[in-house]
Amino acid sequence: MTGRCAACGAAPEVFLDFGRMPLANGFLAAGEFDAERFFDLRVACCPSCRLIQLAEPPAPQLMFNDAYPFFSSTSRRMGEHFEELALALMRECGVRDPFIVELGSNDGILLQHCARRGVRHLGVEPSANVAAAGAARGVRSIRRFFDGDAAGEILASCGHADAIVAANVMCHIADIHSALAGVAALLRPGGLFVFEDPYWGDILERTAYDQVYDEHAFYFTVGAVRSLVERHGMELVDACPQQVHGGSMRYTVAHAGRRTVRASVGAWIGRERASGLDRPPALASFRARVEASRGDLVALLRRFRDDGRRVVGYGATSKSTTVINYCGITPDLVECITDTTPAKHGKYSPGAHIPIRPHADFAALRADAAVLFAWNHRDEILEKERAFRDRGGKWILFVPSVRVLE
Ligand code: TMP
Ligand code: ZN
Repeated sequence: MTGRCAACGAAPEVFLDFGRMPLANGFLAAGEFDAERFFDLRVACCPSCRLIQLAEPPAPQLMFNDAYPFFSSTSRRMGEHFEELALALMRECGVRDPFIVELGSNDGILLQHCARRGVRHLGVEPSANVAAAGAARGVRSIRRFFDGDAAGEILASCGHADAIVAANVMCHIADIHSALAGVAALLRPGGLFVFEDPYWGDILERTAYDQVYDEHAFYFTVGAVRSLVERHGMELVDACPQQVHGGSMRYTVAHAGRRTVRASVGAWIGRERASGLDRPPALASFRARVEASRGDLVALLRRFRDDGRRVVGYGATSKSTTVINYCGITPDLVECITDTTPAKHGKYSPGAHIPIRPHADFAALRADAAVLFAWNHRDEILEKERAFRDRGGKWILFVPSVRVLE
């Protein structure tokens, strides 16, 4: 272990080692295989502050650049989720002409609701391609990573933010103290900072080890978030579980003493202490379940192949890169993956080089089975693809356990 805990500087202890991995969103053209980058994917827990984190997160510029292929607006359900969040933020700011800042505004899936209503807003988004999609929806944004300097610039040009929001972004920011210092400076006293990220308790409970990939530097617990924000003069005032992204937690944070702390915070922390979710026994048992899950999935896929059945993947998600490479899934087990994102079409999956095909090909492939890599969008996809099941197609699931959906 070479790194230091991103929160407190102690030496974190590795509890799960996935070995060498490619970048989760490093989709490749046919001529690019030789230049592919790999790094060590290892998850560690800090013995001092119990923050769960990647032991060696790759440099952000490697992952979030002008070719970032993840567009938030591919899921209808996520669209509804962010509309609800945008409306709640505008309501709860408690001022007449609010200014709302979003960290990692992607293609404007959330801020478009502010833009449409003429509400002052600003996105902070390092990847130009996704930000351009946001601009087409009327979303204003600046092209950069959010840190203390970015906060200072926004403060000087636009003034304090009444609300700051970040969805599936804080867990991506390895320099978490710089981001939190920026939030504390930019937020108006009495304002709200709302962020949500995959919740470690759900990852553990569902053996959702595919949430572990290069971009996810942190796997938050309510207890860890409370300690982190307290170091910046802020206070966790609410914690509210969300169904999206395979189980997330929405954290509401304010400057210390400015808002009433809801009972949810103490209740969640009490539950976390009782379950010991960040303690060595739980972490060791998670690792054992992850290893067993790999064995089960590979055995199932080999059975399908040996029976001469055609298996494809559904959704070339970031998460799938971890599953595919950790399990050693090659194109002879999963012959291609269909995905709705045009930027991924005609490319090859990171590491295993499985071809990515447009979603439009899914029906024509007439696969016998499809591995649901986008399992976090399961209900939406099963409903959309009813015809696949009706003609006898099987869904292969691996979260919370490996099985064929009957
Ligand atoms: P996510 O799991 O990180 O949200 O990524 C979802 C990926 O799955 C993205 O590449 C789009 C793709 N996708 C489909 O191909 N079909 C679908 O119906 C949905 C919801 C997503
Ligand atoms: Zn620590």
